[in-house]
Order: sequence, then C-alpha cells, then structure tokens
Amino acid sequence: MKALLYTPIWFLQLFTTAKSFRDNPILGNATLNRWGLHLTRLKVAHAIMRLRRRLLSSGISAEDWQSFETQGYILKENFLPAEHFIALEAEIRAYRGEVRECQQGDTQNHHTLLEPATLQQLPQTMALFKIDYFKRLMRYTGGHLRQPFLYIEQVRNGVAAGGKDPQKNLHSDTFHPTMKFWFFLDDVPLEKGPFNYVPSSNQLTPERLAWEHKTSQYACKHADSYAARGSFRFETNDLAQLKLPAPKTFVVKKNSLLMADTFGIHARGQAEAGSTRLAIWGMSRTNPFNLFPGTGFAFVDAAQYKIVKALRDWEDYKAAKHGRKSAWHKI
Ligand SMILES: [Fe+2]
Repeated sequence: MKALLYTPIWFLQLFTTAKSFRDNPILGNATLNRWGLHLTRLKVAHAIMRLRRRLLSSGISAEDWQSFETQGYILKENFLPAEHFIALEAEIRAYRGEVRECQQGDTQNHHTLLEPATLQQLPQTMALFKIDYFKRLMRYTGGHLRQPFLYIEQVRNGVAAGGKDPQKNLHSDTFHPTMKFWFFLDDVPLEKGPFNYVPSSNQLTPERLAWEHKTSQYACKHADSYAARGSFRFETNDLAQLKLPAPKTFVVKKNSLLMADTFGIHARGQAEAGSTRLAIWGMSRTNPFNLFPGTGFAFVDAAQYKIVKALRDWEDYKAAKHGRKSAWHKI
C-alpha cells in the first residue's frame, strides 16, 4: 500500500536533487541502474549544469574559469584589501547570533545563518557579498542566479566522543555539480585539517562513469550509510582506477577564498584534536534538471532563509517529541 502511494513521488524525485539509493526504491533499483538510470541522471544533470554555468560565466577571468572547469576549484588568496579583511574578521568574531551545532564523529560543526536581517548587523560582511566579482563567481560556480546559502562556520576537530568524522573520508557530495565555498577567517595549517580536493575529479570521465555505474548497482545496500544515501565514498585505490591524482591539501592563510565543485572528490583533512577553523561558508545546490538559472530577485534569496529556518524548527520539534536533539540543534 505504501509503495502504491509513494511510487508517483519516488518517480518525480528522479527529476530533482534526490540522491538516496536507500530511501527511494526507484533510484536504488539495481536493474534500472544496470540499464543506466543513475548514469542517465548523471549525464543529463552535468550537461544542464555545464550550460547554466556557461550562461553565467560573463566577467569571470580566463584563469578562474579554466581552474574551475578543469580542476574543479578556484583559490583566491588575499581576496579582500587588508583593511576590509581586518574589519570583517573583527566583526564576525564579535558577533553573537544563534548558533546551531551538528556533530559528526568527533567533529562539531557550528553554523550561524547569515540571513538578510543578520547581515544588516554585519556591514563589513554585507560589503563582501556586494563585491561585483564575488557575486559573479557565486553565480557562475553555483550555475544559478540565486545566492548560495550563507553561514558563519566553525569546524571544531576532535572535541567530542563519537569516533571518526565521516567528512574526513574522501567523498563526492552528490551526483550532480554543486558548489561550496569557504572564505577563511583563520589561517589553516596542516594541524587544523585543511580542505582536501582531488584535482579534476569534477570531470565526468569514462572511468568515473564506469565507477558510478558499478557502484549504483549495489548502492542501496552499501555498508556505508552516507554512500547508500547518495554521497559516494572513495578509497585511495579508487583514485588510481579513476586515473586521478592524489588529493591536494589546501593549506591557506586567512583572507583566502576557496570555491569547489563538490561533485568532485574531497574531504576534511585530519586535524589535531581541539583545533578549530573559522570561515564564512556558502553552499549552492539547485535542481540540476532545470535549465532555468533563476531570477536573482532579492526576495527569493530572502525567502530561502525563511524556508530553511522553518525546516530546522520542524526538525527540532520532531526530535524533541522523541526526547532527542535534531541533527542541527541550537546551542
Ligand atoms: Fe562534502
């Protein structure tokens, strides 16, 4: 009975960002994936995102475009003039807003949502997001006119009991091109667990397609629950099979901007227990089957925060009913 009710929803999810092989029996169906369901979604999503990024690439320097298209990332050091950066760093460190925490393994991640009302209180941070070239970079790498979700992020390594942090395994976030960025407010030396990224792993090569085809056929029963839910994990020997180089470790100074396509293979670096890194963090994940790259209207940007806040509140309510804390709970 449940299957009868849910089948139309599961089917419609094929045309969205839905990625869980375990939770959607159509996406997870081994026979359909042997026949190419997962591969078709990959190829169509990547073709549409390539087109949308191209549409929004005007004004992007040849160097940045080349780096993002071929390597999957853009790194810009000393991004802000020193004066602006110093003022912005002081502003963020002094700000006391609502913080939500997510614990994965022994790592805690703290997020403060940079919704429009919050940005009103943070003029230096608001000025960062008004820089014309940064706006162009966000639109191009996200392949969408809607602004990414913006947060203050602090990663706190090895501060809680809970075993290994799953984000420290090499992985791809999802099946389609997507973007995350970090504007670092701390220096990130090796001991603070720098971001690791496998250069050129954003490419849909014949080797990657073959790997995805094979993995999609058993993904619904994958021993790793993250992989079963559509975020595939990679071992070092997989990289050799994919003809990919070793991960690049982004040891960077504060005032560096790093933007990455997290379809590409990446991980948080191993870090010393107790180390933290502070950044302004953004994420853009839009429907890769929609050719329309959005409107860029400010009210749409504002509405997305209302939606995310309502969802977080709903998750708090559901968790509290079972005497638990939600995955992203207030602290
Ligand atoms: Fe990730």
